[in-house]
Amino acid sequence: MFYPEELIEEIRMKNDIVDVVSGYVKLQKKGSSHWGCCPFHNEKTPSFSVSGPKQMYHCFGCGVSGNVYTFVMKYENYTFPEAVKLLAGRAGVSLPEPEYSAEARQRADKRTRLLEVNKEAAKFFYYQLRTPHGEVGRSYLKKRELSEETMHRFGLGYAGKNGAQLVRYLRTKGFEDELIKEAGLANYSERSGLVSQFWNRVMFPIQDINHRVIGFGGRVMGNGEPKYLNSPETLVFDKRRNLYGLNFARTARSGNVILCEGYMDVIAMHQAGFTQAVASLGTAFTQEQANLLRRYTDNVLLAYDSDGAGIKAALRAIGILREANLTGKVISMKPYKDPDEFMKNLGREAFEERIAQAENSFFFEIRILEEQYDLKDPEQKTRFHRETARRLCGFQEEVERDNYLQAVAEKYFIGVENLRKLVLNYASSTGLARPIERPKTLVHQKSNPQENAKRAQRLLLTWITDMPNLYDKIKPYISAEDFTEELYRQVAERLFSDLEKGNYNPAGIISMFEDEEKQREAAELFHTSLPELTTVQEKEKAFRDILLAVKKNSYEYYTANLGADVNALKQAVEGKKALEGLAKTHISLE
Ligand code: GTP
Ligand code: MN
Repeated sequence: MFYPEELIEEIRMKNDIVDVVSGYVKLQKKGSSHWGCCPFHNEKTPSFSVSGPKQMYHCFGCGVSGNVYTFVMKYENYTFPEAVKLLAGRAGVSLPEPEYSAEARQRADKRTRLLEVNKEAAKFFYYQLRTPHGEVGRSYLKKRELSEETMHRFGLGYAGKNGAQLVRYLRTKGFEDELIKEAGLANYSERSGLVSQFWNRVMFPIQDINHRVIGFGGRVMGNGEPKYLNSPETLVFDKRRNLYGLNFARTARSGNVILCEGYMDVIAMHQAGFTQAVASLGTAFTQEQANLLRRYTDNVLLAYDSDGAGIKAALRAIGILREANLTGKVISMKPYKDPDEFMKNLGREAFEERIAQAENSFFFEIRILEEQYDLKDPEQKTRFHRETARRLCGFQEEVERDNYLQAVAEKYFIGVENLRKLVLNYASSTGLARPIERPKTLVHQKSNPQENAKRAQRLLLTWITDMPNLYDKIKPYISAEDFTEELYRQVAERLFSDLEKGNYNPAGIISMFEDEEKQREAAELFHTSLPELTTVQEKEKAFRDILLAVKKNSYEYYTANLGADVNALKQAVEGKKALEGLAKTHISLE
């Protein structure tokens, strides 16, 4: 549902962000920004800033940021078109019928059609579950102790044994075979033609945060393989960026989110009143999902399976949460396998207690680590201590590191001073010691090169939006193609072309994106936190590091893609030249 871009911009410019936000949040002016308590997380001291010059807001506590549209969307729980309507009304701008560009229309149409066919399929499955044919499914779900109300709330359904029925139904509703296939609902077979992908399974419609059905998970009756069959990824089903149950969890306002492994776990939790439970979609928890959660909470409780696979998955998820700056805690399901079984056996109150006892993720990691060593053997014990010291070095901030150090020492009967020495040894041998006195660089040496590259790209974009006059100095070396992340590249393209026209307008760039999650990600690009550097030398060095990191990554990217991408050769050659140029050039920040 697109309005012309100029109109979107006109409405945005007629709604000063400081005015609009002031309607919801008490703001106070300090410097060029206004500050208040963040409406999107609980806090007592203001860390929510609204910038008139940038026409954007940013919370230094929970990391949310965006323009006036995203503010209204988030606060009012509105879609983009709804936010446009509200703000147009506020500014007295009348809205025409929505208008489509040819390409946007095609894409939007396809998305709309996919959502429609999914919705219709969900209705079909829902209805099937409630016919005599669906008795198998119904008794299965009853056996799993789900109430009628729960089944209804989650729109549970059943895919029958006759695979042609779904297809016939969807055809009568006017959906073409091609679309039914593209939605991952059915497949061609030589023998039977187009038949349902799901067969004799209870069906879990997967909804996005706006309750639209974007895909399905189907559980086999009994012990078949695969146990769960999920829709493939489609234009509307991005498994990395959605979470099962988030459509309900987002309004739970419980101060935390409970991350489970399975659909059944989420449903059992909600049935017991824990409506803040979510799960990933048949795949491992991702960075994108962590970022998504950060919009709602900074406190994630893991309720993973208590078996070996669950522990491994929990360790992975902890790393991802940490990367996203979220606090992770682990809830113990023991002696039960998962939240679903726990709830059936011990119930709500026992689970409340487990939440209160949830284990700090670092302690969880150390406890699992300890199990791998035989502490009666001095050599293994030493290795355990060394590994613990190594992990303690992961805390950048000294106070935090020392607090953990003391706690771990006490817990595992290690002499505090000995452990401190080990940490210092480890830190100095790896260059981690006294980070405060080393020249600061913003490009962290994290282990994941891809994450490093993305971070450098984000930092560069933030830096340029903070100091738009830098653009002229760096444009001989940098172009939008250097941003190897698709979304970043789109933002850079627009930002640079705006700057070329002398039109500095980051808040407008955000509305380029239709998808809410992308808008948020784009907004964050302008607010990556730049650590505080005092001297000009420090700043120049940091900026240079970032520039080089972005350029180097782009050079490597295009070199690796020679042959696969027609532009790669040109980009690689120019990248090399620019890198050499940069090596000889001083870029002043003044
Ligand atoms: P129940 O036996 O129904 O209680 O399953 P569960 O919820 O305990 O699920 P389990 O721990 O076996 O798996 C957790 C999640 O992993 C499920 O909800 C699915 O999303 C996913 N999953 C499990 N089995 C499969 C499978 O065979 N294929 C795929 N793609 N995903 C699966
Ligand atoms: Mn289970």
